[in-house]
This record gives sequence, C-alpha cells and structure tokens, in this order.
Amino acid sequence: MIKKCLFPAAGYGTRFLPATKAMPKEMLPIVNKPLIQYGVEEALEAGLSEIAMVTGRGKRALEDHFDISYELEHQIQGSDKEKYLLGIRRLIDECSFSYTRQVEMKGLGHAILCGRPLIGDEPFAVVLADDLCLNLEGDGVLAQMIKLYNQFRCSIVAIQEVPAEETQKYGVIAGEMIRDDIYRVHSMVEKPKPEDAPSNLAIIGRYILTPDIFELIEQTEPGKGGEIQITDALMKQAQNGCVMAYKFKGQRFDCGGAEGYIEATNFCYEHLYKTGKAF
Ligand code: UTP
Repeated sequence: MIKKCLFPAAGYGTRFLPATKAMPKEMLPIVNKPLIQYGVEEALEAGLSEIAMVTGRGKRALEDHFDISYELEHQIQGSDKEKYLLGIRRLIDECSFSYTRQVEMKGLGHAILCGRPLIGDEPFAVVLADDLCLNLEGDGVLAQMIKLYNQFRCSIVAIQEVPAEETQKYGVIAGEMIRDDIYRVHSMVEKPKPEDAPSNLAIIGRYILTPDIFELIEQTEPGKGGEIQITDALMKQAQNGCVMAYKFKGQRFDCGGAEGYIEATNFCYEHLYKTGKAF
C-alpha cells in the first residue's frame, strides 16, 4: 500500500516574481486556500497520510501552515470564523509531516532524490503543488492513479493532451495505447519543440514512483539547463517496460504562471468558494 506523498517545493518560482521573492509559490492562495493545501487534501483523499516535503531557503511558511497557530486560534475561538480553519485542522490531525531541504536547486529529479531519506524503500506519490488538479465529478487525480498502481504495480505519470505549440513546456511521452486512457510508455522527451515532439501527451505534476527511481536519478547526468530531470530517470524505467501514462479525469491548472493561476482562481471561486466547499 502506498502511504507516502512527496511534495518537491524548493523551486524559485521565477515566473511569479516578485510575489515569490520572499514567499514560497506553493503558498499562493487560490481564493482563500494556498496551493499546497489543495495538494495535501488530494493526497489524503487518496489515502496518503504521510506527507514529505522538500523545501529550501525562504520556505518556512510551508511548515508553519501545517502547524497550530495558538494565538490566532485562541483569538477566534467560539466565533463563526473557526469554520475557516476546519480543513487545515483536519489535515494537521490526520497527516504526519516531515521536511528536508534541497540546498542547491538542481532540478526536479534532484529534488525528488533529496526526498529519499523521508521516503525509504517503498513506492510513493509525487505532487507538484503548483499544478492544481481538481475533479468535481469523483475521485481526485491521485486517487485515480493509486487505483491504477494497484493494478499495474509500476511507475505511473499523469498526462494531458496539449496544443502542439506548448510541448516545449513539458516532458512528452511516446507510447502504446492499452486502454483509451492508459499508455505503456516507450520513450519521453523533455521540453521538445513541436516538430520534435513524439506526441501531444504531456506529463503534468502527478507521479507514482517505484523506489528504484532513486538509483536511476543518481545515475542521471544533468540535462537541459544543468538540471537533473525526472524525465531522464523515468525514461530508463520505461525502457524496462515499467512506466504507464494515465490520462486523468478532471481539470488541471498550471498555477506556476499568471494565466493558469487566474483560471484556477475563477474556477475555484465559482465551484468551491461560492458553494461553501472551500474550507
Ligand atoms: P518548476 O519547473 O515549476 O520550477 O518546478 P520553479 O523553480 O518552481 O518555477 P519557475 O519555472 O522558476 O517559475 C516544478 C516543481 O519542482 C520543484 C518546484 O518547487 C515545483 O514544484 N523544484 C524544481 C524543486 O523542488 N527543486 C528544483 O530544483 C526545481
């Protein structure tokens, strides 16, 4: 059974400067709730209650968010404002949180490797909290992926169809379709130009990884931009026939940039906040 979920959250968030100069981008609120809280809610809904975070300098607010604020709670005790804290209190009660730091920001693959002491030798999920995933119709995206893991017992990446001109922002897969929403991955290319992209199926920020990934990341040389890419390590796993790509059900918003962030805000205001489901 998968119990652990890793949140790499050490990146600089340069696309959101100056907001992210002194504040982690994972703390940016979508209406009233920070991105990281949506991510932890999704993990808990999927049955993953051991939360591991890879943070970096200037990211203390993440730890403080998942802790009790005695003064504040004392202040609002007995008032109707207490309802605003019900969601976060539930996460604090039902999850355990552990943290480590990535000292040098050497890419997502490297950040995941930094999480190894918190994960150990077991399969685990990875959530990039700036990719906000919601499914109003049923299971969250991680819960959908856990079900697939239980069937295939191998690494799984979440994918989405993207317009050709956007392949340069993603890792893109080539694979064999084995169900209308599942592909066995043959290869992957990191941020290909449209003419070099093997498909329009882009990897987004949800993964289930088997622990052999750590050795594979260790063997991975820095790629584009001097960063150690997770795509390169996954590619090696795929060559052994053990990576699936899953076209998830639900919406995904790239909240690392202004456009996706605004779309997510409008969507959540309409479907969660106004309907009282936002706390
Ligand atoms: P991004 O590619 O979105 O990079 O990282 P970023 O630095 O956060 O943001 P921009 O592009 O400068 O605006 C994807 C995820 O990987 C984490 C980020 O925190 C984010 O969740 N990451 C990336 C790390 O933890 N460490 C790294 O060295 C790089």
